Amino acid sequence: MSKPKIIVTRKWPSSVERQLQDLYDVQLNKTDIPMTEAELKHALQTADALLPTVTDKITADVINVANKRAKIIANFGVGYNNIDVAAAKVQGLIVTNTPHVLTDCTADIAMLLLLMSARRAAEGSRMIQNQQWPGWCPTQLVGQKVTGKTLGLIGFGRIAQAMAKKAHFGFAMNILFYAPSAPAQEIIDNLKATRCETLEELLSASDFVSLHCPGTPATHHLINEQCLKQMRPSAHLINTARGDVVDSKALIKALKGRWIAGAGLDVFENEPNIDPGFLELDNVALLPHLGSATEETRVAMGERVLQNIKAFFAGQEPGDRVS
Ligand code: DGY
Repeated sequence: MSKPKIIVTRKWPSSVERQLQDLYDVQLNKTDIPMTEAELKHALQTADALLPTVTDKITADVINVANKRAKIIANFGVGYNNIDVAAAKVQGLIVTNTPHVLTDCTADIAMLLLLMSARRAAEGSRMIQNQQWPGWCPTQLVGQKVTGKTLGLIGFGRIAQAMAKKAHFGFAMNILFYAPSAPAQEIIDNLKATRCETLEELLSASDFVSLHCPGTPATHHLINEQCLKQMRPSAHLINTARGDVVDSKALIKALKGRWIAGAGLDVFENEPNIDPGFLELDNVALLPHLGSATEETRVAMGERVLQNIKAFFAGQEPGDRVS
């Protein structure tokens, strides 16, 4: 019997690429140039499984291509807003993701951005790199203390809870959260967390607001001009979730007008073409979507995809099926 044909859309950690090659007839992407819409359609027509990432837009148009061979789209990523899951369902295509393995690393980046924004670290680093550091002085780059402050989390899933642990136990921070559902009472008690009934309540009571909701039509521009006005002038906004949860234009206006003190962003609308307005600001720390970018995590993500397609080709239910 011939091996299932697999198409991997981007370059992966080589140890996982080798494992895939041992088991399947694999088409790798050695150049790492994102595939075009036409190439993605062709992939669905010629492979049994498509293994995309957050950078591949698997739209309804792509999914509805005629003469499909693929039966599974196994995403390399926990977020799957790059895939039109509803269209996949209609077409009988299974979709899987990679939960759990990137929880801590993404929460680390959220904490990093929180600290960078509070302590004006990006500004300081730019000052040195631009050879503009005049030397230490008492009023230079004075930021805000983090220890003991209030962290408001929007969304309270795995990554938010991991950040809450780091913030509460590492920095004695008070934890607020706003989410459609609450986790087990034991988790709330352990973190001494308080659930806010409204978004406004969380925004107005937090020194730091960190976003941890999925990118869906319901969360598109959840943080808009009105929300930014509800935050404290001393507050910071942290986004490691999805860029379009925040209205970029409104955020740039808020940062320029000092409605809020700063922001730390790892994700953006229309990546990698970020709004040039962000580049003109001094009170923002910008990272290029680094949440899951550690060797251990990227290997674990690849292995999670492998487990999902192995289960599928063995006639079993993939562990991380989302649709
Ligand atoms: C994800 O997994 O959703 C990240 O955004 C990329 O690792």
